[in-house]
Amino acid sequence: MSITFEVIHKDIAGRVGRLRVNEKTVRTPALLPVVNPHLPLVTPREMQEMGVEALITNAYIFRRSEEYCDRAVAEGLHRLLDFDGVIMTDSGSFQLSVYGEVEVNNRETLEFQQAIGSDIIVPLDIPTPPDAGREQAEQDLGVTIERIREARDLFPDSNLAGPVQGGIFTDLREGAGRAVGELGFTFCPIGAVVPLMETYRYRDLVQVVLAAKRGLSPATAVHLFGAGHPSMFALAVAMGCDLFDSAAYALFAREGRYITTHGSLKIEELAELPCPCQVCRSMTADELRKSGDRERLLALHNLHVTLAEIARIRQAVQDGTLWELVDERCRGHPRLLDGYRELLRHAAELEVDDPVSKRRFFYRGTETCRRTEVLRYHRLIPRIPLGERVLVSFDGREVPGFDTVLNFKPPFGPYPAELAETFPIGQSETPGWDEDMVRSGCAGIRSLMEANPGKEFAVRCTDEWAWIVREEVPGAEVLHEQV
Ligand code: GUN
Ligand code: ZN
Repeated sequence: MSITFEVIHKDIAGRVGRLRVNEKTVRTPALLPVVNPHLPLVTPREMQEMGVEALITNAYIFRRSEEYCDRAVAEGLHRLLDFDGVIMTDSGSFQLSVYGEVEVNNRETLEFQQAIGSDIIVPLDIPTPPDAGREQAEQDLGVTIERIREARDLFPDSNLAGPVQGGIFTDLREGAGRAVGELGFTFCPIGAVVPLMETYRYRDLVQVVLAAKRGLSPATAVHLFGAGHPSMFALAVAMGCDLFDSAAYALFAREGRYITTHGSLKIEELAELPCPCQVCRSMTADELRKSGDRERLLALHNLHVTLAEIARIRQAVQDGTLWELVDERCRGHPRLLDGYRELLRHAAELEVDDPVSKRRFFYRGTETCRRTEVLRYHRLIPRIPLGERVLVSFDGREVPGFDTVLNFKPPFGPYPAELAETFPIGQSETPGWDEDMVRSGCAGIRSLMEANPGKEFAVRCTDEWAWIVREEVPGAEVLHEQV
């Protein structure tokens, strides 16, 4: 197979990378717009001009199309669609999950995808619906793995994708990721997540994606199948998803919906077009509403917003500010916030991949206290060298009689002067202290005390915080500041 993937920058479990497919390069994270040849609201050529490096289309639609089937075989997809970037084809599995059965078997779809010159070929996997029981999920997964194995045996030289299924069962997802990796696949879509996203089950989505990622090698390019709305891309990238395919730009346009990064609005609700794209700057909301070309103009805007969000995410990964972006996006819907909080519950697992040093750390409320950088700092604290009598000073002032005096910066906790300029202490911006932040800093003091039993600890703070310190660090003496 000639799919290679190279990771260039990392943040949380997210990556900026380079996917090479048949000599063509795709910068990741990447969005592959879904192209339906029968309803081309935006042409592939226009997409390419907007910066699209890869798209996805459905081989099943081409195969059944009287208009396009023979042409696709004769001309190949690239000529037919007039697009010379990467073209991925889907197998018809999605139709399988919607309509129950499809008139094509695994070998036939693989042969057809090959014949029309697809760059990335997908076997006929079985997307297990989220309400399926364990037995069905296991059975579907067994068939899927068998078809993936068959695909590899039949077409060892093709660029095959290895879909990861397993329903909502995290152990099955993890096992599926491992099995597909062992079969030699380096491009793996995570499947059957559309129904989770459609019903806002972002907590389940996070569990399922992280489970699949645990089974997959970090060198695998991970595609999230059918990942829809740009408000969830930052969250998905933070989990380590590298590619998305989305029909949302067109589906939403058809329903008269205007996509923004924090949700979508009905065109009837819009008084303004708050977006810098060509469409929005060239007309008023009223003109867009009344335009005979409304659906196409909306699709262009929707695609523009979606692609801009992907670019913003790539920049955030490079800058080490992806957590801030995730935090911002996930406040757009309470169920996304659930997903974000679920991600934070896995901070220990994410911390392993998260870079040691970043450009900055902005405190944005309670959730910030559970971030990977805080967790990592708390794990580093036991290594701070200490004398016998230790003072943690909230205001930085010393008190005579201590061997070691440490400063205090919540949500991290105690730090020696040597760390004052290094990440995260030096590059963190916090507002006036709040209770959660100080409690998190106190957890840092606890971590220091647990690593140094037998030493004496005191905390110098104002009355405002003394009660929290007493609650959180019962073993330390509290010295009141004279104010
Ligand atoms: N499109 C959306 N979900 C899926 C999936 O699980 N499998 C395939 N092949 N395509 C999809
Ligand atoms: Zn716009």
